[in-house]
Amino acid sequence: MSLKKHILLCALLSSVLIPGSQTASARQATGPRVIDVIARRYAFEPPEIQVAVGEAVRLMVRSADGLHGIEIKQFRVKKELERGAKPVAIDLKPDTAGRFPILCSEFCGEGHEDMTGALVVVAGDAGAAP
Ligand code: CUA
Repeated sequence: MSLKKHILLCALLSSVLIPGSQTASARQATGPRVIDVIARRYAFEPPEIQVAVGEAVRLMVRSADGLHGIEIKQFRVKKELERGAKPVAIDLKPDTAGRFPILCSEFCGEGHEDMTGALVVVAGDAGAAP
């Protein structure tokens, strides 16, 4: 094989290989939007999470202090959030617009009942807004 042919072959091979890695990153770009959520006495941060109808989101929820829980009844979500544990991933793809309460599902102190947030599902693409 001549050197010229070898270079050509290499270029051809890399053009075959590189799009493969682009596909992987493109898949990541179209994956769920990741939203970090922190539970602490006695609030969720952010207190309101906005998502578009049909938008895939992954809530990464963790406790900043003691034991809490996260419950979103509409989506049958109920998870314990242990102190110091890794974030709990909650995948959602809401198909109905509305405002759904986020509750703390574990007793965490005198403010437990007040520890609420909201998942706001809006029609259209508003979930992409900051
Ligand atoms: Cu936090 Cu109950």
